[in-house]
Amino acid sequence: MNLIFLGAPGAGKGTQAEVVCKELNIPAISTGNMLREAVKNGTPAGLAAKAYMDRGDLVPDEVVIGILKDRIAEDDAKNGFILDGFPRTVAQAEALEKMGVNIDKVVEIHVPDEAITARMSGRRVCEGCGNSYHIQYKPTKVEGICDACGAKVVQRVDDKPETVISRLKTYHEKTAPLKDFYAAKGKLVTVEGQDEISETSKLTLAAIKG
Ligand code: AP5
Repeated sequence: MNLIFLGAPGAGKGTQAEVVCKELNIPAISTGNMLREAVKNGTPAGLAAKAYMDRGDLVPDEVVIGILKDRIAEDDAKNGFILDGFPRTVAQAEALEKMGVNIDKVVEIHVPDEAITARMSGRRVCEGCGNSYHIQYKPTKVEGICDACGAKVVQRVDDKPETVISRLKTYHEKTAPLKDFYAAKGKLVTVEGQDEISETSKLTLAAIKG
């Protein structure tokens, strides 16, 4: 099954992708995580992406499309995948079609902007493996330390309130039009994001299997 998780920054795409990929035994592919890894490793794609990401702007389509194309060609993606954070523009969605990728469902996780800004201030991510936590909704077992790898958990640079506002604006301008794009193809399902992560997971799995 090839799935796309669509939604505003902080809507919970990564959190739900983590749950659903275990349930369906397919990889979750996050362009945000791949770009952060590229920045950390100082690769050409990372160098091209950093300034855009720090400002909360989208990285140019050609950079992201290149990274995604290589990733979905890997062996573990042969039986399906969840795309978390891709496509983010109509041009990226069209590029996916040109690659010959058939998408089964596009799951929009809808959360109002006011709830997003509150959520983002509590997010913490692992410096080592990139795992994501929330100080209130998904805390680490030991404060400040990743459950999975023991590295430090920190606030993401682009989770500062002013950058979150800019990312939300970019989402509404450039990514939200994808809802119409996929609705016209009969592929869009919308899940209302709940305050409890597990409640959202139940709705997400039902939407995928329904
Ligand atoms: P990316 O990393 O994809 O960021 P994003 O889309 O802005 O999404 P987030 O990772 O911030 O949020 P999420 O929806 O995954 O939420 P999460 O599950 O973490 O991209 C970063 C940057 O990379 C972009 O700004 C751009 O520059 C660039 N980029 C990436 N892809 C690109 C592309 N295709 N084209 C161009 N540029 C691209 O949840 C958020 C928090 O809330 C967590 O702390 C979580 O624990 C908590 N939470 C989750 N669900 C719930 C719930 N139900 N109740 C309470 N808390 C919850």
